[in-house]
Amino acid sequence: MKIYKYNNKNNLYDDVLKLYINEINNNPKINLGLATGSTPIPLYERLINSYKEGKVSFKDVTGINLDEYIGISRDHFQSYYNFMYNQLFKHIDINLENTYIPKDEKSIEEFQGILNTHKIDLQLLGIGSNGHIGFNEPGSSFESNTHVVLLDEKTRTDNQRFFNSLDEVPTHAVTMGIKDILEAKMIVVIATGDNKSDAVSKMVDGEVTESLPASVLQKHPNVHLFIDKDAGKLLKGEYKYED
Ligand code: F6R
Repeated sequence: MKIYKYNNKNNLYDDVLKLYINEINNNPKINLGLATGSTPIPLYERLINSYKEGKVSFKDVTGINLDEYIGISRDHFQSYYNFMYNQLFKHIDINLENTYIPKDEKSIEEFQGILNTHKIDLQLLGIGSNGHIGFNEPGSSFESNTHVVLLDEKTRTDNQRFFNSLDEVPTHAVTMGIKDILEAKMIVVIATGDNKSDAVSKMVDGEVTESLPASVLQKHPNVHLFIDKDAGKLLKGEYKYED
């Protein structure tokens, strides 16, 4: 795992942007594994600006999302379908027919078929404060493919900030499995903020265990972890800070 540590969050995202522009321009038909939540937003904003400045095109890019809530409709203001459309897709030239977001339990087979025929070149991941990746909560099998999950209470309370109340936060989701995530050729993980520091330290320095799903990333040969000082404060190794 390569670790890049920053004092300044803007510089962190600027460097992730450079990586993305490079990867997309080198392979315009790239299959991007996409994430939602707060973490990717500064990257998506930068990608939109770069597109508007003519530095990158998504014309031939395929986007495949990690997960989606179950129990709210696609047009709900917090569905990940809506999130992707509003935070990224509507601002760029991606062909919506080349975007895939899991939908519900009925769509699992179809979504798994997409994963089986579209190898992800570059997977973006945030990390849950409990160490989840996608919505693979602690205890998820490392051998899992796309499946329905019962959301951890920690995840529901963390995500309450996006809804009007905890009651409105869905209890279930559908997620790409850990086995699927590990199939990606390259993985970029971004973690910022104090509330991620425990999960980040266990992911990097802890044992590889299904109780901390992100720890499985230690086994992947091409993971790039971008963290700020707060998220990295419990790491054991000496890491040089970028700006
Ligand atoms: C989102 C996802 C989740 C989030 C994680 C962190 O598609 O799969 O694993 O990346 O919950 O969320 P934020 O970025 O909101 O802290």
